[in-house]
Amino acid sequence: SAPVYILAVETSCDETSAAVVRDGREILSNVVSSQVETHKRFGGVVPEVASRKHVESITWILEEALTQAGVQPQQLAAVAVTQGPGLVGSLLVGVVAAKAFACALDLPLIGVHHIAGHIYANELVHKLEYPFMALVVSGGHTELVHVESEGSFRIIGQTRDDAVGEAYDKVGRALKLPYPGGPHIDRLAHEATEAVTLPRAWLEPDSYDFSFSGLKSAVLAVLNQANMKGQPLAPEAVARGFQDSVIDVLVEKAIRAVRKFGAKQLLLAGGVAANKGLRTALETRCRHEGVPLLAPPLSLCTDNAAMIGAAAFLKYRRGQFAALDMKAEPQLKL
Ligand code: KG4
Ligand code: ZN
Repeated sequence: SAPVYILAVETSCDETSAAVVRDGREILSNVVSSQVETHKRFGGVVPEVASRKHVESITWILEEALTQAGVQPQQLAAVAVTQGPGLVGSLLVGVVAAKAFACALDLPLIGVHHIAGHIYANELVHKLEYPFMALVVSGGHTELVHVESEGSFRIIGQTRDDAVGEAYDKVGRALKLPYPGGPHIDRLAHEATEAVTLPRAWLEPDSYDFSFSGLKSAVLAVLNQANMKGQPLAPEAVARGFQDSVIDVLVEKAIRAVRKFGAKQLLLAGGVAANKGLRTALETRCRHEGVPLLAPPLSLCTDNAAMIGAAAFLKYRRGQFAALDMKAEPQLKL
């Protein structure tokens, strides 16, 4: 059958991205313009600034994605876009651009959940087997998602306070690292020769939920105490202690969830999936337990439109199209 080319758009946070994906598997282009340099001096994403930047970039990013793919607009089968969750002003730019494009070319529109995108980033590189368990870890999300069959998601555990990436970035700020702190903490943790002892939030024995704000507060407390004593801690030791605590809980709960729900695979997804310490710990544990572990390459872990194209293809095959009055949904449920 004829190849299905989907033009996908992602603007839920601070990356403006457009991609062309063939048959949900092959990336023909995946243009990502990060605003991180703009937000750095504020120590975090400023929503109003983010949406203005999206407006400036979205047109050339769309053109660039089509040019790089070598695909004519008339060859497209559909236009897909992240409908939510995310920052409303940011989402709106992508949704309006995708609608305008779909309307002008008389193409069907597909709304994609951002987390479904992160999960199906794995479909671009791996063969998925249902049911699987997905550990979604990003700046806005920390979720264990049981995926029984294609597109059927059940969140079995999630953070009760900070997302794991958010905790990384807050601890990064406390350690005076550039924004976003996640990759810097990852690096420091590797360089460490010792680790500060920090608590682990296991919550109730049977819970798959997470909590990271207590850990973040504990980091702030040990930093303050050490400074008051005039014996500042090595940032490497703090980074290592923090990362060890995060990883212990994520790995243990993910493995327990795989066992409990009889998942055939464990998928890692989201920006924090780029964390080397987490990947190594999961690889070791999964090998030990005989659980197949799938993770996307680093470039497909952080926000990008190709993952939206991959998730959109599944909806395309099922004829799950959106109407042109589709709204951006900052709190969209999976
Ligand atoms: O998925 P993503 O690009 O955006 C959201 O949807 O949130 O994830 C961004 C998050 C940031 O919090 C960033 O610090 C974190 O992913 N991150 C990392 C690493 N690389 C990115 N956290 C820990 N270790 C890393 N290597
Ligand atoms: Zn994301």
